[in-house]
Amino acid sequence: MKLAMIGTGYVGLVSGVCLAEFGFDVTCVDKDQSIVERLNRGQVTIFEPGLDVVLQRNASAGRLTFTSDLAAAVMDADVVFIAVGTPSRRGDGEADLSYIMEAADKIADAMRPGQVIAIKSTVVVGTNAAVRDRIRARRPGVDFSMASNPEFLREGSAIEDFMRPDRVVIGVEDERGREVMRRVYRPLFLRETPIVFTSLANAELIKYASNAFLAMKVSFINQIADLCEKVDGDVHDVARAMGMDRRIGPKFLHPGPGFGGSCFPKDVRALAAFARRVGAPQVLVEATEKLNETRKVEMSRRILDAARAEGGNVVGILGVSFKPNTDDIRESPALPIIRNLLEAGVTVRAHDPAATDAARAVLPGVTWCATPHEAAAGAHVVALITEWNEFRALNLASLATVMAGRTLIDLRNVYEAADLAGSGLNYQSVGRPSLKG
Ligand SMILES: NC(=O)c1ccc[n+]([C@@H]2O[C@H](COP(=O)([O-])OP(=O)(O)OC[C@H]3O[C@@H](n4cnc5c(N)ncnc54)[C@H](O)[C@@H]3O)[C@@H](O)[C@H]2O)c1
Repeated sequence: MKLAMIGTGYVGLVSGVCLAEFGFDVTCVDKDQSIVERLNRGQVTIFEPGLDVVLQRNASAGRLTFTSDLAAAVMDADVVFIAVGTPSRRGDGEADLSYIMEAADKIADAMRPGQVIAIKSTVVVGTNAAVRDRIRARRPGVDFSMASNPEFLREGSAIEDFMRPDRVVIGVEDERGREVMRRVYRPLFLRETPIVFTSLANAELIKYASNAFLAMKVSFINQIADLCEKVDGDVHDVARAMGMDRRIGPKFLHPGPGFGGSCFPKDVRALAAFARRVGAPQVLVEATEKLNETRKVEMSRRILDAARAEGGNVVGILGVSFKPNTDDIRESPALPIIRNLLEAGVTVRAHDPAATDAARAVLPGVTWCATPHEAAAGAHVVALITEWNEFRALNLASLATVMAGRTLIDLRNVYEAADLAGSGLNYQSVGRPSLKG
């Protein structure tokens, strides 16, 4: 079976590579010529652990190709996946579907009868039906099937997530759609992955409801962390025991500086705005959106207060990507925090293992450093914002010697009291008692 993947960003590239690994012939299409050229040279265009090896294996085997010729790829395919971006629309926060519609028109112009068009991008309810109707209007009489196949992979563990998902969700409206999509995911079915067949609208709802629920869990534990700080509690003990209740589950109960990334913030905004428009306001989702915004302001204030208490205005930042193992800085909480610090007149020195190039472009005025120690040099406060592995075992005593002040603010609760012993650092974390060095 031949597959075309329209859009070769995080989702499109990982999905295309993994589907080639399943044994399908996959053509990945991107309108950005530079992405296609780099991929054709064997260069991976995103930072994703392990992707280079699987990509090269499948490209060498001739199962994976890259092109900007959408029409040729579509003509040749049995299934055409759409994996283009659906960013937040300026103003109202709803999902911008213009890339989807543009791709749909180009697909319609090139398609042949009997194909399945599957949307992998995250799209609000009704989009699959709207795309189906749009294609039908553009190519009347051409018989095709529509499938909604939202993606749940996480950046940083994307290959594992694609290869071993908790479930695959597929919205279809006819037998051909169901059969063809079943064949696509047969390798996962053989590994006993649940494949959930449902309607187009339900598949769209499942994706948004899942992301909004996870985001809500994060905001919930952040609020519990605030409470813990007021009453000398320890949010880790609270979260651990909460998570042992299988009705709650342990995941996404880690407090921090607020959720970020290319999905949660925009999906929460889009669901809230869409639900308001159709007359079913999602109060919990709206509260989550607001809490996450104020969270980043509160974390900035925490760092500023600490700098003031140290009597200085140099802050070292460890981690700028929205989470470890990615160079993605989209809606990373580090960005507004750093901007708030700069606006308050703070000198910011920052280090990130992978995201420096991306961050440099959007954060003028920051001194970018090659190591954590360099970022800490002369700093009155060091704030750990992203829990990269290389920040988990820092020599804190040696870090303290290069700092001008003595405060470490650990917004990811990476360290324990015992790690601080003898370092001389004052330690603030999230939802746990502060320690004096
Ligand atoms: N990034 C994630 O972790 C993740 C996870 C699950 C779902 N999603 C969803 O998947 C979708 C894609 O996200 P992403 O992070 O991969 O986006 P991205 O911005 O990384 O990639 C989108 C790509 O599509 C290309 N493109 C746009 N219009 C095109 C066209 N007409 N023809 C060919 N290529 C075109 C762009 O050049 C870009 O390279 C979004 O809806 C997102 O919400 C993302």
